[in-house]
Amino acid sequence: MGVEVVVEGLTKSFGRQVIWEDVTLTLPAGEISVLLGPSGTGKSVFLKSLVGLLRPERGHIWIDGHDLANCGENKLYELRRLFGVLFQDGALFGSLNLFDNVAFPLREHTRKGETEIRKIVMEKMELVGLIGAEGKLPGEISGGMRKRAGLARALVLDPEIILFDEPDSGLDPVRTAYLNQLIVDLNAETEATFLIVTHDINTARTVPDNIGLLFRRELIMFGPREMLLSSDEPVVRQFLNARRHGPIGMSEEKDVSELEAEAQLGHDPGVLPPIPPQLMPSENRIRRTQRPPGEWLAANGVIPPVNSFVDDRGRNWLEEYPRLVAAHLNGVP
Ligand SMILES: Nc1ncnc2c1ncn2[C@@H]1O[C@H](COP(=O)(O)OP(=O)(O)O)[C@@H](O)[C@H]1O
Ligand SMILES: [Mg+2]
Repeated sequence: MGVEVVVEGLTKSFGRQVIWEDVTLTLPAGEISVLLGPSGTGKSVFLKSLVGLLRPERGHIWIDGHDLANCGENKLYELRRLFGVLFQDGALFGSLNLFDNVAFPLREHTRKGETEIRKIVMEKMELVGLIGAEGKLPGEISGGMRKRAGLARALVLDPEIILFDEPDSGLDPVRTAYLNQLIVDLNAETEATFLIVTHDINTARTVPDNIGLLFRRELIMFGPREMLLSSDEPVVRQFLNARRHGPIGMSEEKDVSELEAEAQLGHDPGVLPPIPPQLMPSENRIRRTQRPPGEWLAANGVIPPVNSFVDDRGRNWLEEYPRLVAAHLNGVP
């Protein structure tokens, strides 16, 4: 049922190069969080640190009362089994067909027999919509299918925490939309704790319960989606709204003269665009950890821009959501 991950003061360097410093955040159990940031800010390094593939110099990663960042090898091996990871390119074995790729962790880490392995593999293949493709080699299928196969493999040990490294990179917008829907559906299904690393703003705006932004070696902000989407912190505002005007430049960081030139023109945070509704699971389901749209804004006295929470079919989710909840309570999903 998903476990909480508490990251405290985490710092990672390679030699003299500090990747990020003093990162503190909590991934709430069962919720979907997104870590957003320009390329090269250390998002993949963060994921690898979370699963113990890289060892940070300072700080803690608390899971179930154990500090994954500072524990011994045996404990680390045990804690790692709580995780499922979808690496950036799917990280499939090129010479194994999809079935054997997905079966790999089961054969490696469990003593299950082939009959049970087949049952589990087929169940996960069905979850990601890959039934019929079991015999294909990774080289014979599309990038989107490879991601889904990687996802099936990440799911076979029934992880409590699932990490996704840029699931949307290299996919066209339509494939990305399908994959994002699949991720939300999987969260509803597994109730595991999700962390998605991405630099895709649309994914960050619509999929998660929480957003974090990594920039210039620090975590600028981490919190509920509505908090970041309505924030006027300049980096957050610029990044989440894909604006040219702001502290972030073409080569990730603008130089001092560019910033001074802009400051002379006056800092314009720009108009806040409408906050999109959160992507809901298919078939009118509601995720167990889902928060009602507008909840954070109302609790914090923030008035959203007009047309916030209106979907592309013109439905306003401030009205739609309570209706859906009521239907569930009445047993009519
Ligand atoms: N094993 C490593 N050894 C040395 N430097 C590394 C290693 N892994 C990543 N880096 C460096 O860390 C920085 C962040 O990399 P990465 O986490 O891949 O960025 P992102 O995923 O945000 O694009 C880069 O400058 C990269 O060169
Ligand atoms: Mg990366």
